[in-house]
Amino acid sequence: ELRKNKLIEQITHLKKKKNAILLAHYYQAPEIQEIADFVGDSLELSKKATDTNADIIVFAGVYFMAETAKILNPDKMVLIPDADASCSLAESCKPDEFREFINEHPNHKVVTYINCDATIKTMSDIVCTSSNAEKVIESLPEEYPVIFGPDKNLGNYLAKKTGRNLVLWNGSCIVHEAFELDKIINLFKEHPDARLIAHPESPSHILDLATYTGSTSGMLNFVKESSSKKFIVATEVGILHKMQQLVPNKILIPAPSIENNTCACSECAYMKLTTLEKIFLCLLNETPEVTLNKSLAEKAFKPIEKMMNL
Ligand code: 13P
Ligand code: SF4
Repeated sequence: ELRKNKLIEQITHLKKKKNAILLAHYYQAPEIQEIADFVGDSLELSKKATDTNADIIVFAGVYFMAETAKILNPDKMVLIPDADASCSLAESCKPDEFREFINEHPNHKVVTYINCDATIKTMSDIVCTSSNAEKVIESLPEEYPVIFGPDKNLGNYLAKKTGRNLVLWNGSCIVHEAFELDKIINLFKEHPDARLIAHPESPSHILDLATYTGSTSGMLNFVKESSSKKFIVATEVGILHKMQQLVPNKILIPAPSIENNTCACSECAYMKLTTLEKIFLCLLNETPEVTLNKSLAEKAFKPIEKMMNL
């Protein structure tokens, strides 16, 4: 505890001294969310990255998020506490293979989920996040067939929602893919008054049971507005921190997952690479820094800008 308090003190001091802002995703550990200047979902964090006067952005999240912040702020220093914080969706989508996929489907519009590398973004007509994906698909003229990647679960959900025929890349999120249907059904038996809320990265057999499907910020809003008192939450467990603060009198149950080596809970190992110590060290040493080739960054900016302008 003493060490934790010391680290928080040092991080606060360095942030002030270097005019740095700490942005954190809802999936970060509670102590990191607590010291962040701003906590949000992917879209909110991208927006926040564009309207800060800070000289340095420290991104407590995963690499594609920090990379997006850099694309939006080429003149700012963007630091990521652990450069190995990847994402299984980004990992599933390698540029050469995605280029081939696009070539196999000529004349298609290409929509990519923001959970991908900058190079994939350069191949896209428009980018989306889970909170604006439906709107993004609907913004495309109906005469165009659409390629959607890298998340096939979000893609399936969008195809159902919009009635559009989407050609899907075969990627998925290791966290959302691991929710176990039988265990969720057993939970319902124990708690018949609970409502299932799920992130659209979850597979359709989970989403079919959900009262609400939406992004992390959408889920937070839903539990606040809903008259229900009990929720089974199918997304990364980090969200429960903010959620419980928002609805202190409601009961939140994390949706159970297939057991893995470390736990039977839905933790994103990439998100959890961030620690207070790594935040302190990266602020102190100004490394690891996210750097991008200028022309790549300019090309990747266009489909993100299109999304932001919607
Ligand atoms: P949000 O867009 O809801 O923040 O989701 C990001 C993410 O990585 C979900 O796994
Ligand atoms: Fe990627 Fe899934 Fe982790 Fe989100 S929860 S960062 S989609 S691996």
